[in-house]
Amino acid sequence: MYDELAAALEALVAGEPDGIANMANAAGLIWETLPDLNWTGFYRNLGEELVLGPFQGRPACIRIPFGRGVCGVAAATLELQRIDDVHAFDGHIACDSASESELVVPILRDGKLLAVLDLDSPRKARFTEADEAGCRRLAAILAAAI
Ligand code: SME
Repeated sequence: MYDELAAALEALVAGEPDGIANMANAAGLIWETLPDLNWTGFYRNLGEELVLGPFQGRPACIRIPFGRGVCGVAAATLELQRIDDVHAFDGHIACDSASESELVVPILRDGKLLAVLDLDSPRKARFTEADEAGCRRLAAILAAAI
């Protein structure tokens, strides 16, 4: 699944320099491909906070300070966050009450945080090690395209 997803993403972003357009198509592709998601998209690093970028799903909170919520912790630590039960995560920001589990992948270029890729699921423990590895691949492709 992730082989195909990575190949499709490479093809979608090839030759397109606009990062917002590439994030928008990436969100659409992930949303259409991966099952059991209720939200997927991007928060961009605009200084001391993350700001909502292209996404699929319900309208979400717009600004997230570094260190707050799952996305903010990923941004502050530059570490991927795979959370089986978001209700057990201290400081989780509930944008959509349907969310039960979450995967957040920092997108870095030259060691600098560009954005985070956020996937939310209505199913507890939806994200596996395979999803973690697969989404790291997607983030690596996006690092050169946003
Ligand atoms: N739940 C996230 C906030 C973003 S939304 O899920 C779209 C968090 O705690 O970072």
